[in-house]
Amino acid sequence: MGIAQYLTEEHRKCDQLYAEAEQAVAGENWDRAKELFKEFKDKTLLHFQKEEEVLFPEFEERTGMVMGPTQVMRHEHAQARELLDRLEKALENKNKEEFLSVGESLMILIQQHNMKEEQILYPMSDQNLPSEEVVERMSQLGEV
Ligand SMILES: [Fe+2]
Ligand SMILES: [Fe+2]
Repeated sequence: MGIAQYLTEEHRKCDQLYAEAEQAVAGENWDRAKELFKEFKDKTLLHFQKEEEVLFPEFEERTGMVMGPTQVMRHEHAQARELLDRLEKALENKNKEEFLSVGESLMILIQQHNMKEEQILYPMSDQNLPSEEVVERMSQLGEV
C-alpha cells in the first residue's frame, strides 16, 4: 500500500468518528459522546504523530523542502490541537452549542488540511520517498 492510500484511509476513519461523536452530542447522549470523542481525539493525534515523526522528516530529507508544505501542515496540526482541547472542555461542561460550533471550525480546518495533503503532499511523498518502508514505520506507531 502506498503512503497516499494509507493516510487517506485514516482521514476517512477520523471523519467518521467525528460524525458519530457529533451526533451523540446533538442528541445529548453525553456518556456515548465522551467515548466517541475520546476515540476521535486519540486517533486524530496518532495520525498527526505519524505525519510529524515519520512522514514530514522523511519528506524534508528527500526533497530538501524544509520550509515548505510540511511547515504549513505542522502549523495546522497545532491549530487543530487547540480546537480539540476546546472541544474536550465543552464536552466536560456538557455545552452542546459550544461543542457544535467549535466542532464546525475544526471540521473546516481539517477538511482543508486533508485536501492539501491528499492532493499535494501525499502524491509527492509517494513519488519521492520509499513508500513501503515509510508506511511500515508509521504502522509501528499504532492503528487508527
Ligand atoms: Fe496532517
Ligand atoms: Fe493527514
